Amino acid sequence: MDHRPLTGQKALVTGANSGIGEGVARALAAAGADVVVNYVSAPDAAARVVRDLEASRVAAMALRADVGREDEVRAMFEKMLSAWGTIDILVCNAGLQRDAPLTTMTLADWDLVLRVNLTGMFLCAREAAREMIRRGIRPEVSHAAGKIICMSSVHELIPWAGHVNYAASKGGVRLFMQSLAQELAPHRIRVNSIAPGAIQTPINRAAWETPEALVSLLGLIPYGRIGLPEDVGKAAVWLASDDSDYVHGHTLFVDGGMTLYPEFARGG
Ligand code: BGC
Repeated sequence: MDHRPLTGQKALVTGANSGIGEGVARALAAAGADVVVNYVSAPDAAARVVRDLEASRVAAMALRADVGREDEVRAMFEKMLSAWGTIDILVCNAGLQRDAPLTTMTLADWDLVLRVNLTGMFLCAREAAREMIRRGIRPEVSHAAGKIICMSSVHELIPWAGHVNYAASKGGVRLFMQSLAQELAPHRIRVNSIAPGAIQTPINRAAWETPEALVSLLGLIPYGRIGLPEDVGKAAVWLASDDSDYVHGHTLFVDGGMTLYPEFARGG
């Protein structure tokens, strides 16, 4: 029999209709979790992911909500809790880039990135934590009363010229996650981050779609290949399962070594 470590657990993945979120949703479902596929646009893509997840013999449903809007986040959690009763796993994945040099970056570009990438995490984590604290541990499914996974980035550590809004949001995720981990530990809620490097998704298409761009990108990745959504999905399953029960307040870099200062392999 296959090992399905998340059997019976209820998960919500934000921004799960494409890219890393889709990869995480697929991996959680394959591990036995029922999964809410949150999306904000492209309902057809969300419906396609739901159909695929159901093939893993789990329940799945698509719920639309802009994670940066309090009323929409509340409504999404109300729907999930009334349909499935509770939440065991939250993956705060929704995120976006609006890149520009500082001197031409608009306030709208700044605000949108901070609102989705950071405020969205706060709003979703708050709703999930309220339910996890209310409910407590369900010993039949997990040692923890809940697991919250924040999708960060190598740019919680690596500064990124031309992307100050995005880098600031991910730097914020780092201390948001650590502070939340400190605060929620007494409730037995585990909080961790995954910090992906260059994963082949629509968000960074320009960095991999031409051979020249890919060669230059690979110069930043010691392991010599671009990442795939399933690389992140596998890390998320581990962080959501009791196999990582003593891992708390940690950022797991899934980056092929991008954070190893690859230039120093050639001198210094
Ligand atoms: C960004 C990608 C980028 C990667 C590595 C991610 O957080 O969203 O656009 O390719 O970091 O720089």
